[in-house]
Amino acid sequence: MMDWTDRHCRAFHRLLSSRAILYTEMITAKAILHGDRKKLLGYSKEEHPVVLQLGGSDVHELAQAARIGASWGYDEINLNVGCPSPRVQHGQFGAALMATPELVRNCVSGMLQAVDIPVTVKCRIGIDDQDEQTALDDFVGTVAEAGCRVFVVHARKAWLEGLSPKENREVPPLNWNRVYKLKRDFPDLEIVLNGGISSAEAGLAHLDHVDGVMLGRAAYQNPYLLAEVDRVYFDSPEGPPGRDEIFRRFVAYAEARCEEGVRLHQMTRHILGLYQGEPGARVFRRHLSVEAVKPGAGVQVLRDALRFVEKTREAKPVLVA
Ligand SMILES: Cc1cc2nc3c(=O)[nH]c(=O)nc-3n(C[C@H](O)[C@H](O)[C@H](O)COP(=O)(O)O)c2cc1C
Repeated sequence: MMDWTDRHCRAFHRLLSSRAILYTEMITAKAILHGDRKKLLGYSKEEHPVVLQLGGSDVHELAQAARIGASWGYDEINLNVGCPSPRVQHGQFGAALMATPELVRNCVSGMLQAVDIPVTVKCRIGIDDQDEQTALDDFVGTVAEAGCRVFVVHARKAWLEGLSPKENREVPPLNWNRVYKLKRDFPDLEIVLNGGISSAEAGLAHLDHVDGVMLGRAAYQNPYLLAEVDRVYFDSPEGPPGRDEIFRRFVAYAEARCEEGVRLHQMTRHILGLYQGEPGARVFRRHLSVEAVKPGAGVQVLRDALRFVEKTREAKPVLVA
């Protein structure tokens, strides 16, 4: 998710689940070809399995970008066919590509020829006034001809005119049944459902109908729900580490990055929701929001944040007669 799932966010999420597949933000093929690759593609090896999501619609650019991504060790390349932002539409990619399945097929084919890792697609159930029954089948059927075996489907349409990207994640109604039907009609493809899944447990019910689930906003806003993923989906016998333990491991990560010159706030912004729903959540969030942005802020800010949480937890309620 753009501006959210950068490398620091993913490193944090990996502490919560050792098995979930993590995705990068969408990075345009052009940026990879012409931009600062270390900044765009750098990641920690602990993040595996990690998928590089690309944006673009030029076959040659996408193939080159995929090759570069594979050479950086990414486990999979995913093509974004779901982003509705005007900037992305202007570049003729993202959700707009749902109208041109043949072009997407050619892009996927070019990428698959360029790499030895899977190339997958993330799409919507349709755009604008497309008939979501026929258009989605047509899209998936055509793109599968190139050899794409995995489709992650955000179970709502995107409206390219009139709705902001945020509204396009909220206003068009969710239609999980349409994604279930896609799986029935394409049983040999791996269909992953995305959209509106609020917890690891909540995602489980979908597995009666599809092959996998993807969590977006819920996992970012309330990251500790990811701590349930290994147990719920992968039968991990171990209980999840507690929040404090996750936090201590993150402090070690942050300390190493600070020494490399990363600003504390670039990392802490992703962990503000760690204690959501727990005593101390507010003081944790506030302390990090205020202190981590200060020039020269170091990991002591993190240690103090944990101390405040512990204090809140220990505080006995005072009864006033
Ligand atoms: C801030 C933000 C950025 C996003 N960026 C991307 C992106 O780069 N690529 C993508 O495929 N989807 C992106 N999405 C969409 C999510 O991946 C997901 O499809 C959508 O939020 C619906 O799933 P959810 O209800 O689990 O959040 C973004 C969503 C948000 C909130």
